[in-house]
Formats: sequence, structure tokens, C-alpha cells
Amino acid sequence: MGLADLRALPYPWDTLGDVTALARSHPDGMVDLSVGTPVDPTPDVVRDALAAASDAHAYPLTAGTPALREAVAAWFARRRGVPGLDPAGVLPTIGSKELVGLLPSLLRLGAGDVVVHPAVAYPTYDVGARLAGATALPADDVDEWAGRADVRLVWVNSPSNPTGAVADVDHLRRVVDAARRIGAVVVSDECYALLPWVDGLRIPSLLDPEVTGGDLTGLLVAYSLSKQSNLAGYRAAFVAGDPALVADLLATRKHLGMIVPRPVQEAMRVALGDDEHVARQRAVYGRRRDVLLGALTASGWAVDHSEAGLYLWARPAEPAPAATGRDLVARLAALGILAGPGEFYGVAGAGHVRIALTASDDAIAMAAARLRAAAAQRRTGTVA
Ligand SMILES: Cc1ncc(COP(=O)(O)O)c(C=O)c1O
Repeated sequence: MGLADLRALPYPWDTLGDVTALARSHPDGMVDLSVGTPVDPTPDVVRDALAAASDAHAYPLTAGTPALREAVAAWFARRRGVPGLDPAGVLPTIGSKELVGLLPSLLRLGAGDVVVHPAVAYPTYDVGARLAGATALPADDVDEWAGRADVRLVWVNSPSNPTGAVADVDHLRRVVDAARRIGAVVVSDECYALLPWVDGLRIPSLLDPEVTGGDLTGLLVAYSLSKQSNLAGYRAAFVAGDPALVADLLATRKHLGMIVPRPVQEAMRVALGDDEHVARQRAVYGRRRDVLLGALTASGWAVDHSEAGLYLWARPAEPAPAATGRDLVARLAALGILAGPGEFYGVAGAGHVRIALTASDDAIAMAAARLRAAAAQRRTGTVA
């Protein structure tokens, strides 16, 4: 069976034309907080590494250079509490979105197979299941799929896009135990793991020995440098975990030429070894988050979760009956602020909007000022 036809599936962000036009019509212009695309410069240390590797006459290794694979293993030990990862269990990917979208197909899933993903989730988990002809099952509770032999792949996303919720060791262990009983693969997408907002919060990796019991069989982590290192334009990411699963993916990806360019591999290697730029960028996002969170809560919004990551998952503080995410997006667009409707992340997302922290300090300050001004006008009755 071939891949399914996705052409009729609307691309969510292409459906925002009306609210984008409304936001653009604001006299002081639009603040776009709808897409999580980084706006700050790629760190010099990483750009220098890319430039130094720009003589790339030979084909790169699909598996990644040994130095990159070792750098990923060292990064897991240093930053994610995962010691002793076998470099053979590391594979660079061309950004992580392609891996998310293609994984069910690369694992040869198809009709009759079920792919579990979080109830409110990055849409590509669903897209990947559809592409393979498998069935997506949005579910947060392990009991919704435990014991089902047709479940072949379980996605975890911690910290979550869009909510910023973080899964603890107990939850991850329950997912792993249930998946092992039915022989399903578990993949955790952890690309916001180094952007925590709660003091002392532990954001365990799926590959943490407390979760795995030291056995990585059937377990993978997807990780991306797009956000933490402002490398979205480099397409720099990797998948890591069970060496047998990685070897399986590598065998297919070699046939397809799914190779990360050698200069990008070098840039990744250097980025993974430099914690300083990651800390600096986190501090920048932390300030932007404080500004936006303060303005939202002062102007009638509540933000759920937001324990980590780059998005505020917001809803009206006073329950607003029948307000869909799209209604709420239109409300913000009237202030010249563009956000993403919660429906983009599944039916369970209706009633929320996703507000990205990925805008310049000036843009974030402008959005906050508009929110506060609108709240003040409502209070003084100058606006309905
Ligand atoms: C949860 C999650 N996974 C994967 C990606 C894809 O990131 P990239 O393809 O830039 O690595 C994103 C991007 O927003 C994301 O939020």
C-alpha cells in the first residue's frame, strides 16, 4: 500500500486569512504570535561552525558523523540525565517535523494500526498516522489504549506544544510499561525540554533510567535544535534511543537520501556542546513570557499549564460559553494580535488559543500594551 493522499487536508496556518487580515488592519500593525518561528539570531558560535564546515564536497553520512553522534550522547548525559547512550542509537534528522510526519511510515505502519498521540497536540502526529494509512487516537490517559494489540506507536510530547504541560517520571513509566505489554514503540518529542519556567521543575526524558529501568528497547526521543538554539532554518534535529530501532530507520533513510547536510551536522555538534547560548536564549524567552503572561492575566485571560516551552495556552478567565478558539483568535485579532486557534491542536483544544513567545521584545511589549489598554477601556466602559 502506498502513502495516503494528504492534498485535501487543509494546512492549519493557511486557514487564518480572515483573522490575519483583521489583525493587519490594526493602525499600528500586526503582532504575529501565531507561529512559533524563532526571531533572534543564530548564535555566532554555531554560525562559525557552519562556515568552517562549508567545504562539503563529499556526500555526508546519513547516520551522522561519529563526532555528532557522540556529541548527542554526551548532551543526553549532561543535560537530560541519560548517561551511557550508545552513539549507534543516534540519528540526525532534517528538522524533527519530517521525522514526526514520516515515522509511522518508516516503521511500516498502515491500515489497522493505531498511533496514539496527546489529546491536545502538535498536528503532525495525526498527519503522520494519516500518511501511513494508520488511525490516530488522541488520548492522554494510558487506560484509553492499554492492552490494545492494534496500538503500534505512542507519541509523548513533554513539554507539550501547545500547553507547556510536563510529564513526570510516573506518567512516562506508565506509558512505557503499557506500551511494552503490547509491543508498541514509544517516541517522546522533547524539543522544549531546556525551556522550563517553574523553579526546580524536573523535565525527565523518556530515556531517563528511572523511566526505562535501563532498557531502551522500543523507546526513542525526538529532539530539535530549532527553538533552543535558533536553528529552525538549518533543519537540525535528531532521534535517539533504542539502537535497533535507529538501525531500522537508518536503513530506510539511507535508501531515500534523508541526509542532514554535513555543515549542519557540524553546526549541531557545536551547538550541543555550548550550554551558554541556550541559557541566554531561555532568559530572553523568560522575560517575554513574563510580559505577556502579566498582560494576559490582567486583561481577562487565564493561562493553563505553561510549565515549560514557548507557548501560552490561554482561555478567557471567565467561562465564555460557546467561544471557540477561532472566536477567541478573532477577539485578539481586533487588537492586531494574531494567535493560533486551539482547534489546530485537536477537538479538545477548542476554547483555547495558543500564543507564541517567539516575537521580538518590541512586538511582545506592543501586544502586552494593547491587551492592557483594551482591558482598561472595558473597565471604564469606553468600549463594549
Ligand atoms: C512538538 C514539536 N515537535 C516538532 C516540531 C518541529 O520542529 P522542527 O521541525 O523545527 O525540528 C515542533 C515545532 O514547532 C514542535 O512544536
